[in-house]
Amino acid sequence: MTATTHVIDHPLVQHKLSVLRMKETSTSKFREILRETALLLGYEVTRDLRLTTTRIETPLQPMDTPVLDGKKLCFVSIMRAGEGLLEGMLDLVPSARVGHVGLYRDPETLEAVEYYFKMPSHLDEREVIVVDPMLATGHSAVAAITRLKQEGARHIRFVCLLAAPEGVAVLHETHPDVDIYTAAVDEGLNEKAYIVPGLGDAGDRIYGTK
Ligand code: URA
Repeated sequence: MTATTHVIDHPLVQHKLSVLRMKETSTSKFREILRETALLLGYEVTRDLRLTTTRIETPLQPMDTPVLDGKKLCFVSIMRAGEGLLEGMLDLVPSARVGHVGLYRDPETLEAVEYYFKMPSHLDEREVIVVDPMLATGHSAVAAITRLKQEGARHIRFVCLLAAPEGVAVLHETHPDVDIYTAAVDEGLNEKAYIVPGLGDAGDRIYGTK
């Protein structure tokens, strides 16, 4: 199985990403534009969801009409920056279920350590869309997806705003069944594992922290 990286080159996505990258973009503007961008990314990541047909009545007559098939979607936010993407995704699919994974990086081993994990039931029957704005080293995404698979998830996609080639490679290698959806793949990582040129620390930019 070979996973694909889908770069969403829609002009609106690319324009909004440029505004998000600008260092002078304020916290409130950043949050607002990230939410709008997430909705557009969400549109692309849900493009091939399965449909079934149901019988309804319009005010004029009965008809067979398409509706989403199966259990409700599950968005999984990798905290804390994932929350910034989650809001836009929920604007698009308000009925989706939501899971959260909390991970921090152990300063000694640099491994991702889980501190929180809460998921809806029947993960195995849901399309699971994991969201985190920055796919940098890939360690958090890999850890979150490994855990989701242990909990039964079988259909997983990963959405980010920006990816580094290093993170893309690690995620594809470890989870070759998981497609990546991103607005751009940047040059690479600097010595502090920030994506360059990037947009800085996504969590700090969303919440106005340092
Ligand atoms: N996380 C961020 O928020 N920014 C980066 O550039 C890399 C990881």
